[in-house]
Amino acid sequence: MQYSILLTLLVSLPFRPNHVLAFPQYGSLAGLSSRQLAEILPTLQARTDIIPPPGPMNDTSTKLVNDKEHPYIPPGPDDIRGPCPAMNTLANHGYIPRNGIARPSQIVAGVQEAFNMGNDLAKAQVYGNHILNGNLITDLLSIGRKTSLTGPDPPSFSVGGLNKHNTFEGDASVSRADFYFGDNHSYNETVFEEFIRASRKSVDGRFDSKVLLDLRYQRFKDSIATNPTFNYLTNRYFAAYQEGVFTYMLFVDGLSKYPRRLDMDAARSFFQFGKMPDGFHRANQPLSSLENAQLVDELVNAHPNITTGQNNGTVNSFTAVPLSWPFPICLGYKDFVEQFVPLYPNVTGDLRKSLEINLHYFYEGFTSANCTEIFL
Ligand code: HEM
Repeated sequence: MQYSILLTLLVSLPFRPNHVLAFPQYGSLAGLSSRQLAEILPTLQARTDIIPPPGPMNDTSTKLVNDKEHPYIPPGPDDIRGPCPAMNTLANHGYIPRNGIARPSQIVAGVQEAFNMGNDLAKAQVYGNHILNGNLITDLLSIGRKTSLTGPDPPSFSVGGLNKHNTFEGDASVSRADFYFGDNHSYNETVFEEFIRASRKSVDGRFDSKVLLDLRYQRFKDSIATNPTFNYLTNRYFAAYQEGVFTYMLFVDGLSKYPRRLDMDAARSFFQFGKMPDGFHRANQPLSSLENAQLVDELVNAHPNITTGQNNGTVNSFTAVPLSWPFPICLGYKDFVEQFVPLYPNVTGDLRKSLEINLHYFYEGFTSANCTEIFL
């Protein structure tokens, strides 16, 4: 079987460098019907300039990133945090706004600067998540729960923030419980202890790609046995591997003598506290979409017992469902576009412009794989 990444998202359009959109403001609009959109859009306040994401950094060497300009400050009571330890870390160190509400362009800049995520991979991640969970009108994304800080809720349901289940957030995480158990986004010590136990079995007690495979299988079996609503369909399947790759590629200090092996103090620091270890240096080279996809491929091929599928309302009822896209990476991009663009049905006007722009940025997330752009 061949693979790559999950690369969460949609389509695109011809690049326009500096779009100033006279837009209605606010609202997480994915998933609304065209009738709902027609009702809502005129009620939203005009605004917004969509700030383009930065290009690749000039200097991609490792450097101290837990520095004086970016001190760790734990979140205050009103600050929003969520399921991604990297986003929480960026906010706690001020690489993105500390309240946890950021523009996608700020997040791209933050993951590049603080973790050396490659420019294309950063765009794929950020714009994928933004199109699903952010507000395309206000150009704001919550790294956790849905909040009025990204704009008022539409009258119907809203898709809001990274906590939103079964968009990018999913089951069988390694430091958070499944949505079924009530909290899919807060650090969970019981779940994380499995991470520690699995890592202890490696030669030097560090987390690496082999530990990741064992742990993924364990978490997969846990969820089958305990979560009646367990969902491990294609997007989640790849995302789960991808997050594992980030863990041993981007949480390991760029000066470490143990590349691709994460020690437990650093792991706890990121996963539990959203905190860079003291003296932390970012990775010593950028991780591109293509390399990330290749690493995910290796994992997929190495563990045929972890398959796509879901429980059917009771525990231990796991039914395999074939992958919705077989690969390689550009098919993942295409599938994502085809799967999620319909969440914005018959979209017109300012929202359409915004969707086109954000889809184009998403497409730029696949530069290293040389994919063909798909337009709205
Ligand atoms: C340096 C870049 C990044 C790293 C190192 C990273 C790392 C991780 C890890 C390790 C997890 C798994 C947590 C767990 O299983 O308990 C995770 C989850 C998640 N990340 Fe990130 N991430 C990065 C970038 C991003 C970006 C750019 C976004 C979106 C803007 C994002 C959104 C999420 C979400 C929604 C989850 C929840 C998925 C789940 O349910 O496990 N991440 N991330």
